[in-house]
Amino acid sequence: MTIPYGKHHVTDEDIQAVVDVLRSTNLTQGPKIHEFEAAFADYVGARYAVAVSNGTAALHLSAMSLNIRPGDKVITTPITFIASANCVRYCGGDVVFADIDPDTFLLDIKKVRELLESAPSGTYKGIIPVDFAGYPVNLEEYRKLANEYGLWLIEDACHAPGGYFYDSMGEKQFCGNGRYADIGVFSFHPVKHITSGEGGMITTNDEKLYGRLINLRTHGIQQDRKKLIEDHGPWYYEMQELGFNYRLSDIQAALGISQLKRASKNLERRHQVARSYDEAFRSIPTKTSKIGEDIFHGYHLYVICSDTRDQLFEYLRQSGINVQVHYIPVHYQPYYRNHGWYKRNLPVAEAFYEQCVSIPMYPSLSSDEQDYVIKKILEYFN
Ligand SMILES: Cc1ncc(COP(=O)(O)O)c(C=O)c1O
Repeated sequence: MTIPYGKHHVTDEDIQAVVDVLRSTNLTQGPKIHEFEAAFADYVGARYAVAVSNGTAALHLSAMSLNIRPGDKVITTPITFIASANCVRYCGGDVVFADIDPDTFLLDIKKVRELLESAPSGTYKGIIPVDFAGYPVNLEEYRKLANEYGLWLIEDACHAPGGYFYDSMGEKQFCGNGRYADIGVFSFHPVKHITSGEGGMITTNDEKLYGRLINLRTHGIQQDRKKLIEDHGPWYYEMQELGFNYRLSDIQAALGISQLKRASKNLERRHQVARSYDEAFRSIPTKTSKIGEDIFHGYHLYVICSDTRDQLFEYLRQSGINVQVHYIPVHYQPYYRNHGWYKRNLPVAEAFYEQCVSIPMYPSLSSDEQDYVIKKILEYFN
């Protein structure tokens, strides 16, 4: 028996939805894309959604649409998947990592403020907070800070579709709803909440950004006839800037739509799994993120921290539990080290990396499997 840390779940309905598209006339650029975008925008409460080929493409186009230029400085967290930082580099910008908060493991807004205060005005252009593990970032606070310094915000919400926080008005703010961040990005890689095989989504409430993202997704071709510079006839199109083919296919969108129907139910199940872990680990010396009353966690990951992480990791792997470490701090990566970030600059993130381990968390984890995971972890500590 091997129990992974995360796993997709595909039903007969999902398969049928894909087969229906395979039998239709549009394998790509057909109606399923708009249907998926509309359903997803509705799910997270955003005005616009743009489906793309993966979460990395979503980040890249977001960075482009916000006009990152060579030399622009952008702040993000080191405890994330490398793609959150790479999108800045694709546009030639410089990534500056700020440390994480020891309680939430999210980018520490106090550290971000310190960076902003210590640099000449105009040094930084934007911030990319990440809803790490599914923990919703308080974007209202980030918006205030961003406004003070004239910065944009991209919310990397790849871990948190369906998660939310309550803002100071007591209103529920779903991750990626575009209320406080300019743009939200999601991934539909199989290990995420919903999957389309590979896939991603960009959400925004800004009509201009939306128009630009739609064009950038297809080579930078202007899709709105009213905005053409010239018009030679019905065959005519114009590439007005340099974009990419980052489209999602209708085959993938059909799977995404079908999966999205179960997203709320599955998120409830993730919460059940988390509650059982919380309960079981009360008496052992592990640490998890402190979860405030004002958030509804996305639980992409369930991370525990232990002083003997390496031995715990080994013990669980040998017991058939395929735990994982999320994440190697991005500034440890040789590529980023070569760009000026050396080891031992961000003590909280670095200590977290020494201790963290992600244990199985997915809706189809059976009670027997979870009992086994709990038993093995308790056994290790006793
Ligand atoms: C936080 C975060 N951002 C971005 C991505 C990139 O998404 P994708 O793998 O779909 O390109 C991932 C996926 O692993 C992620 O976890």
